[in-house]
Amino acid sequence: MPLLAIETTCDETAAAVITRDRAVLSSVVASQDALHARWRGVVPEVASRAHVERIIPVIDEAVRRAAIALRELDAVAVAVRPGLVGSLLVGLSAAKGIAATLGVPLVGYDHIAAHLYACRLAHPGAVSDPCVGLVASGGHTSLFLVRSPLELERLGGTIDDAAGEAFDKAASLLGLGYPGGPQIERAAVGGNARAYRLPRPLATDRSRLDLSFSGLKTALRYQVRPPGAPRDTPAPVGQRLADLAASFQQAAVDSILAKVELALDHTGCRTLLIGGGVTSNTLLRESLVRLGRSSGVTVVIPPRELCTDNAAMGAIAWERLERGENDGLELDVRPTQHGQS
Ligand code: KG4
Ligand code: ZN
Repeated sequence: MPLLAIETTCDETAAAVITRDRAVLSSVVASQDALHARWRGVVPEVASRAHVERIIPVIDEAVRRAAIALRELDAVAVAVRPGLVGSLLVGLSAAKGIAATLGVPLVGYDHIAAHLYACRLAHPGAVSDPCVGLVASGGHTSLFLVRSPLELERLGGTIDDAAGEAFDKAASLLGLGYPGGPQIERAAVGGNARAYRLPRPLATDRSRLDLSFSGLKTALRYQVRPPGAPRDTPAPVGQRLADLAASFQQAAVDSILAKVELALDHTGCRTLLIGGGVTSNTLLRESLVRLGRSSGVTVVIPPRELCTDNAAMGAIAWERLERGENDGLELDVRPTQHGQS
């Protein structure tokens, strides 16, 4: 019998139905991208209101597509950390309501651990613990030592912007839309990634597993509009746009790659798990495949729809249930990042 997983950590309203043997019977994601596009970033208040409107239709659709009745559910799982507090609370309230009505266990799970669990879901058998885990999304960019699906130790991560946030801000500087990652990727096609020299802060510092993207963003800003240039300087177009997008994308990917390699070196792990919206980037995926080939490390790459936010990765809740764990109706949300209190 299956569980229902609910995911409302940021700006995607998602629900999925997953069986105990990890078969995903349905996975529904309602994106709010169009709502946040005019602000070129997620507006928390807008996000929580949109979750309230969408959560019931999304759950209904997930149950309908799974061709089951609600009463056939074994448990209800919900992402309770980290995320935007108002968004998390919408998912938690819906999960509590359904679990209490059906009289089935309620299981909270960590959204970051779930991103990495997507690798096990997509490629069962390919993962041998311990692994290094890379999560790169709009809100997080972190490296983990993954001892098991539920045991993650944060090794390092960004000290300023998340990678996805940097893509979003870069897209905005280049006059492109939101979310920025896919727009930059598209604009970079045909561009020369070496046309502009952009910094890779901390990339050569082998003493720490931290990343930084704010200097890269500022450097791009000065390329687009040099100091002293008028505020209404037109956004770049044509080959200049392609070159700027390609140079930015290469610098961001190089920065991530340097720390992934270092984390593999430091830990001695032979498997890499990846997750989060930025890991759907083609240049990053291809670079990681090359890294795997040259180093003999197994790089586990989930399909793109399992990289961006979704509820299928809520299958991780089965790991808790199988340990005999679940939560009571007093379950609460924890907006802060994994590894922080
Ligand atoms: O994991 P996700 O869907 O939501 C969060 O938990 O944040 O990640 C969204 C982020 C956005 O910042 C978006 O610009 C970025 O992932 N992203 C990409 C790509 N697709 C999405 N970044 C680079 N290249 C992409 N193809
Ligand atoms: Zn996410």
